[in-house]
Amino acid sequence: MEPIVYLNGEFVPLSQAKVSILDRGFCYGDALFETMRVYSGKIFRLDLHLDRLERGAESLFLKLPETRERIEKILYQTFNRNQGADAVIRLTISRGEGIPGKLWQEDTTPALSVYVRPYISPPHEWYQNGVSVSLIPDSASKLGNLQRQIKSANYVSSILARKQAEDLKSVEGIMVNDQGEVCDGTISNIFMVKENLLSTPAINSYVLGGVTRQVVLKLAAQTGTVCKETSISADDVLQGDEVFLTNTGWEILPVTRVDGKTVGSGQPGPLTQALQREFRKCVDAEIGK
Ligand SMILES: Cc1ncc(COP(=O)(O)O)c(C=O)c1O
Repeated sequence: MEPIVYLNGEFVPLSQAKVSILDRGFCYGDALFETMRVYSGKIFRLDLHLDRLERGAESLFLKLPETRERIEKILYQTFNRNQGADAVIRLTISRGEGIPGKLWQEDTTPALSVYVRPYISPPHEWYQNGVSVSLIPDSASKLGNLQRQIKSANYVSSILARKQAEDLKSVEGIMVNDQGEVCDGTISNIFMVKENLLSTPAINSYVLGGVTRQVVLKLAAQTGTVCKETSISADDVLQGDEVFLTNTGWEILPVTRVDGKTVGSGQPGPLTQALQREFRKCVDAEIGK
């Protein structure tokens, strides 16, 4: 069955949802997006996604076309018009159609779209055995002078880093900046464990403030695990006892090989597994299981 999407006030079949070639998201990446996970009909941490969306809109001087309450309603209305209780929802807000050649424009009508796709879980063996990642030097893109607390739709650097990673048969590329610091994955945040100390790169202009990252930091604190938000070098990651990635769709994904070298014991580590269990409890609590 063809997905039903929301576009600027209307619910239409995907094939009928069109935006202009003058749309500033298309022309310049002048847009924001959120990818959200629906568990048993409930959008996980919707508040955190909407917080990030609002922060992004403020940073880009983009006036959201709908209130937070209306956006929430639209998300659930679109979800309900599609099949399946477990899904992924993509919300995109671009600055809308612009005048060609005019780089800064504030009098546009922003375009809001929502697309829902069924959730397809990553292969089971990824969680059982961990995945391989590659460090991609000099690939982390800096979002101007903005903290990457915002989820800009400009993903060219991530796309290129992902291509390099896939060419190397890795599941994810870890973007490293020009100072040799590990930043984030192309679609994920990275954590490492060394001598029972959990650490993750601090949010800065290279590191996206992921929702799952935020949830994991909270779960770690609640379970008495110290986590440092700090600068991590590529060498540090190679010396880690455990490494894992976080992303809305992957949740907590163990990494057991970095650049072909085995991480720790070569199996998902105990702290990674403990956090995975806590994350699952958190989802169950959210959906009232
Ligand atoms: C560059 C980057 N870092 C981190 C993440 C993880 O964010 P979240 O946990 O909100 O899915 C994403 C998600 O797509 C991302 O694109």
